[in-house]
Amino acid sequence: MVAETPAIETRQLTKVYPGFWKSQQVAALTNLNLTVRRGEIFGLLGPNGSGKTTTIKILLGLINPTAGEALVMGQPGGDQDTRRRIGYLPEESYLYRFLNARQTLDFYARLFNMNRTQRRQAVDYYLDFVGLDPQVRSRRIGTYSKGQTRRVALAQALLNNPDLVIMDEPTSGLDPVGMLEIKNMILRLKQAGKTVLLSSHQLADVEDVCDRLVILYRGKVELEGALSDLLEVKDVFQLEGRNIDAALQERLLTLAREAGAIELKTGRPRVRLEDLFKRLVESKRRGEAAATGR
Ligand SMILES: Nc1ncnc2c1ncn2[C@@H]1O[C@H](COP(=O)(O)OP(=O)(O)OP(=O)(O)O)[C@@H](O)[C@H]1O
Ligand SMILES: [Mg+2]
Repeated sequence: MVAETPAIETRQLTKVYPGFWKSQQVAALTNLNLTVRRGEIFGLLGPNGSGKTTTIKILLGLINPTAGEALVMGQPGGDQDTRRRIGYLPEESYLYRFLNARQTLDFYARLFNMNRTQRRQAVDYYLDFVGLDPQVRSRRIGTYSKGQTRRVALAQALLNNPDLVIMDEPTSGLDPVGMLEIKNMILRLKQAGKTVLLSSHQLADVEDVCDRLVILYRGKVELEGALSDLLEVKDVFQLEGRNIDAALQERLLTLAREAGAIELKTGRPRVRLEDLFKRLVESKRRGEAAATGR
């Protein structure tokens, strides 16, 4: 059987941004080898300036590499037919401030040659998908909050039903509930068989959704692998449960000590502030929805 071409593959990808003087040149990527398989959620991580956006721009054909190759679905970055199968959420959203969300998406849907009926269906489908409050959809984008603007940009990236979705900082500007919604949305994209390349500084997001990841440092891969492998502490075992009273705790500890276990720790789990916040906001929203009958 012929192996399926990866969604993304870079070979010895190198980018040097030119400068007038040699000392002003920036080696943004050096011999980067990446493979993103079809259908996986892949995290592209690294501190500021490590080359994430540069990698994404080369994959999209927005800038040229200095050396090496960048293939998307087996084709060179920027290939026109392949470009149509990619949805891209840029680091900064560039949207027309004077159009509202519906008009904005309708404008892009026209660029994808959708007819009137298709456009009307797609626009509301994707605004629902990204959870944009229906009350603001007909108000101009210039008045939106940061998170609302980000959602419109996301809907725009998904509008052509792409096979590969590339997101540069998808959750920037979103509140914790918004972040959770975006995370769930990314998982739904995966369920629909799409490949997602996700660059983010929100490590909690990455941890919750990515199958595999790389961490870049000064344009080179410092660490890569499957998330479950990278994060699992292999030599520690944890036990958690209810109805474990003081006597049972003592028995368990004694048993463990006698069997040679070391560095034993006991305690009660805590919820994260994030979970507490989300529970509160979600219950408020359910209350509002029930009161308005929506
Ligand atoms: N047009 C450019 N000209 C010169 N240098 C550039 C240019 N664009 C990016 N760089 C440099 O290339 C390096 C990589 O930048 P890049 O934007 O890819 O980083 P990043 O990982 O996306 O960072 P961030 O997390 O801040 O978004 C940085 O040192 C940056 O200053
Ligand atoms: Mg960037």
